[in-house]
Amino acid sequence: MKIVKAIFCCSIFLLQLQVPAFAQAQLQNYDGRYEQKIDSLLAMMTIEEKIGQLVLYTSDIDVTGPTIREGYKEDIKKGNVGAIFNAYGAAYTRMLQKIVMEETRMKIPLLFGYDVIHGHKTIFPIPLGESASWDLAAIEKGARIAAIEASAEGLHWTFAPMVDIARDPRWGRIAEGSGEDTYLTTKIAVARVKGFQGDNLGELNTILACAKHFAGYGAALAGRDYNTVDMSDRVLREVYLPPFKAAVDAGVATFMTSFNEVHGVPASGSQYLLTDILKEAWGFDGFIVTDYTSINEMVPHGVVADNREATALAMQAGVDMDMQGGVYQEYLPALLKSGAVAEQQINDAARRVLRMKYMLGLFDDPYRYSSESREKELVMHADHLAAARDVAKKSIVLLKNENNTLPLKKNIRKLAVIGPLADNQKEIIGSWSAAGDFKKAVTVLEGIKAAVSPATKITYAKGANINDNLTDQIAQAVKTAEQADAVILVLGEEALMSGEASSRSSIDLPGVQQQLAQAVHRTGKPVIVVLMNGRPLTINWLDKNAPAIVETWFLGTQTGHAIADVLFGDYNPSGKLPVTFPQSVGQIPLFYNNKNTGRPRSDQKYTSKYLDISNEPLYPFGFGLSYTTFNYGKVAVSKPSYTMSENIMLELNVTNTGKVAGEEVVQLYIQDLVGSVTRPVKELKGFQKIFLAPGETKKVSFSLSADDLAFYTRDMEFKAEPGFFKVFVGTNSRDVQEAGFELVK
Ligand code: BGC
Repeated sequence: MKIVKAIFCCSIFLLQLQVPAFAQAQLQNYDGRYEQKIDSLLAMMTIEEKIGQLVLYTSDIDVTGPTIREGYKEDIKKGNVGAIFNAYGAAYTRMLQKIVMEETRMKIPLLFGYDVIHGHKTIFPIPLGESASWDLAAIEKGARIAAIEASAEGLHWTFAPMVDIARDPRWGRIAEGSGEDTYLTTKIAVARVKGFQGDNLGELNTILACAKHFAGYGAALAGRDYNTVDMSDRVLREVYLPPFKAAVDAGVATFMTSFNEVHGVPASGSQYLLTDILKEAWGFDGFIVTDYTSINEMVPHGVVADNREATALAMQAGVDMDMQGGVYQEYLPALLKSGAVAEQQINDAARRVLRMKYMLGLFDDPYRYSSESREKELVMHADHLAAARDVAKKSIVLLKNENNTLPLKKNIRKLAVIGPLADNQKEIIGSWSAAGDFKKAVTVLEGIKAAVSPATKITYAKGANINDNLTDQIAQAVKTAEQADAVILVLGEEALMSGEASSRSSIDLPGVQQQLAQAVHRTGKPVIVVLMNGRPLTINWLDKNAPAIVETWFLGTQTGHAIADVLFGDYNPSGKLPVTFPQSVGQIPLFYNNKNTGRPRSDQKYTSKYLDISNEPLYPFGFGLSYTTFNYGKVAVSKPSYTMSENIMLELNVTNTGKVAGEEVVQLYIQDLVGSVTRPVKELKGFQKIFLAPGETKKVSFSLSADDLAFYTRDMEFKAEPGFFKVFVGTNSRDVQEAGFELVK
């Protein structure tokens, strides 16, 4: 009863949800050509066979949670399984497919899914890192290559992209998304969906994408994974939902529910999210899979008494496929008999799954993706490695570079490479590195050795482990540093300190690494810090003391080469932070698009601030330096006021005032000064990555429409309100040029 009420009170806003007026490019302009075939197929299937299409089990190659279904091969034989995850490889997937084709009555091909998150075997930077490139073409290419390799190994479906907004760096899964900003995440979501799915799902080198985790997962209280989420409907729609909506408009084939609750109802039981918003208001025609056992988890959530009730709730809510829970298989037949679930609901879910199998061409040839020859030819192809290196170097963010410490000269006499991540292969491919083999990854030490002149002497010391209290290796590191002209100090987290179930209450450098940095710093040698981490870290000491800091996240297979490209100036860094770096964990959540409050911080005591620390971040959103300097001219808005139907045009000149060529991400933010509800002090609304030769000036133009200025008003209508706006253009969210305009009715 309670649930029904909660759903009803949220549903009153439904009619006002933003629905575009034009037809969407959903499911790649699917014209309905398979619907008749699906009708005949459904007419021939027993209820158990239909339910089988709604069942997804893990295989035994890889597990990403508890394995609760050991006899999955028996289930496949009986036709009780429609999809398998964590199985890949041409031979292995063919073997599993054969079971269905040879032993089941209906011979409906299996769908193979896998977490191809940042590359399949050629591993690309972790998604948060890749987002720092702000290079949509490179990001799309990364997803394209992941799809090429995954599809050659028999995979049809990736559980990516993750498009969760994350404003809390304690949450380990911040590593898997595109950071804190809705606009940037939305653009990247579209790039990744396009990359995975290409233009035609029937091509052999495309796979189904999955927008996850729907919804609000990144807002887990206190940054603790799986924790409760409690937010207003306005924040949900304005901040957390737009990347999902954009994924639907880009034709994403599948959605995954999140583990958390939204408005008191776990996402896998939320009719509001799954049916009212996703399937009805947005017109999503793909299928919805749960996250791992998340139907069953509605029991401990406390909205149902047992798995049977959980199953009914999930089906009513609109879940099509049960990942690993086993409950659709177990309870749906009885629920159907009792009338708690209607056959029409099961038919609709099965239809959605079958539609995808048709679109992939599996009914023409169930083995078409499992190809040893393509696997051999394509996996880790030289072109893929080159693309991985390209986006890896673009993902690097230069955080500090006092007195042009970087780039180093390739003929430097003696270089010390120190730190627990300097000669480490295992960690550098990052968390969720799918089928990636860390033994193929290029370490920083290897990358540096490959880049320097033959005469350069490289020495190495580990200095410390990543995450323990032992200080016995520090002395040797100091000795190594003393004998060098400069030190590259590679510090950070283990790969699995971010990702799922990897929240941290402290986001300092783990273990004794800061102690190591301090000891090496005392030698007086120039120390260049290379950071590897899956989240923002609090690195105040390094920021104060190290002359140069390079944020590299986890860059994947080509890590060492990409880092060397930047350290020695073969590539001028252009990455910009997709997430704010706080000074202290006590400031969290800290994000750039906050509200002003009634008492904005000032020198007065009774204003919104801390006693012990400023409100400022250590590095703001959008921040990143270059080896050159850029001058921003005055922002010119084409006229002082615009009507709702006009485009707001603005332009400015950006000049490369330094000595080397470089790329700059020119960022556009707005502020709506007075709204019927309070508006953020800044909101990203556009960006352009431009290349400038030394001395070159380029005119950069932006155009904004009333839609770009729209928000959920006091009446929960999505629209722009007339009034005054500021526009800011700059090199990051803090350092900007300002102009303004008025929007009139
Ligand atoms: C994660 C999902 C993932 C799934 C399958 C879950 O634990 O939350 O993101 O896709 O496992 O591996």
